Amino acid sequence: MTVELAVVPVAGRGTRLLPLTKSQPKEMLPVGRKPVVQYVIEELTRCGLTKVLFVTGPGKTAIENHFDIDGELIAHLRETGKEELLEELAFERENVEYFYTRQRRQLGLGHAVLCAAPVVGGQPFAVALGDSIIGLQAQSQVVRRMVEVFESRRADAVIAFEAVPRDEVVHYGIAAPRGPVAEVFELADLVEKPAVDQAPSHWAVAARYVFSSAIFDCLRQTKPGKADEIQLTDAVRLLIRQGGKVLGVPLPSGERRFDIGNFASYFEAFAAFALADAQDGLALREHLKRMLCD
Ligand code: UTP
Repeated sequence: MTVELAVVPVAGRGTRLLPLTKSQPKEMLPVGRKPVVQYVIEELTRCGLTKVLFVTGPGKTAIENHFDIDGELIAHLRETGKEELLEELAFERENVEYFYTRQRRQLGLGHAVLCAAPVVGGQPFAVALGDSIIGLQAQSQVVRRMVEVFESRRADAVIAFEAVPRDEVVHYGIAAPRGPVAEVFELADLVEKPAVDQAPSHWAVAARYVFSSAIFDCLRQTKPGKADEIQLTDAVRLLIRQGGKVLGVPLPSGERRFDIGNFASYFEAFAAFALADAQDGLALREHLKRMLCD
């Protein structure tokens, strides 16, 4: 069975970005010219996924509006002679079907994925966090590669990993690889936010997963962990312990994860995308150089 559906959890409260996220979803924050979640969907469609299921929550209707076809806006642009701006709305017509379900209580990422179960049923699916972009301008093909690995190796889960500096392992789910880390490697375990001296590696989960529906049973058995939330990492651990084949795929060199979940990494992502902007990046670079030299 081929993977055509991506679950995109966007129901979190984004408290680390308050007050920015008080009345707007963090997944709609701008990074350069587009909101974060638009990059996520563009990446997924480029990787061959044709169905997107958003797991939304309170205050997230801006996301639904963003992916709707806005006939009034299109008519307005035509009537006011701004046809050239229509191409900015071309993403509305991507060959994607959108579905929405709600996470009615914010009980963590694992719980958000479990909320997708009645819609996903028995089919394999990808998960892409709605607050993380992979690769500059979201050009990553890692999800396509993960789907190929999932299918050819008959895996139960494939997870993307990014090498992080040793002292940053405390912020991430960290891989315990069974052997050396190669283009594809098997996981012996996955440890959530380990202490630096106890981390089994410096390979951190990078916001993209492919799962068989076996993950749902593991999520159902997972008790609330850190911060009283149902952690996706804990369900993956259970999958490994129950004999599931869980594989890791490192992000290709030159590709990185842009996480906008906290201010430091959000600022970094915005700066990287603005500086790489085809139209205004060069002028911004010059401006920043002058600013930094003063
Ligand atoms: P985070 O782990 O950053 O959590 O979510 P959060 O609740 O959004 O943010 P903080 O910790 O309060 O600042 C990673 C992704 O998982 C989704 C978020 O919307 C984000 O895209 N998520 C998280 C859910 O859908 N539901 C949850 O209960 C938690």
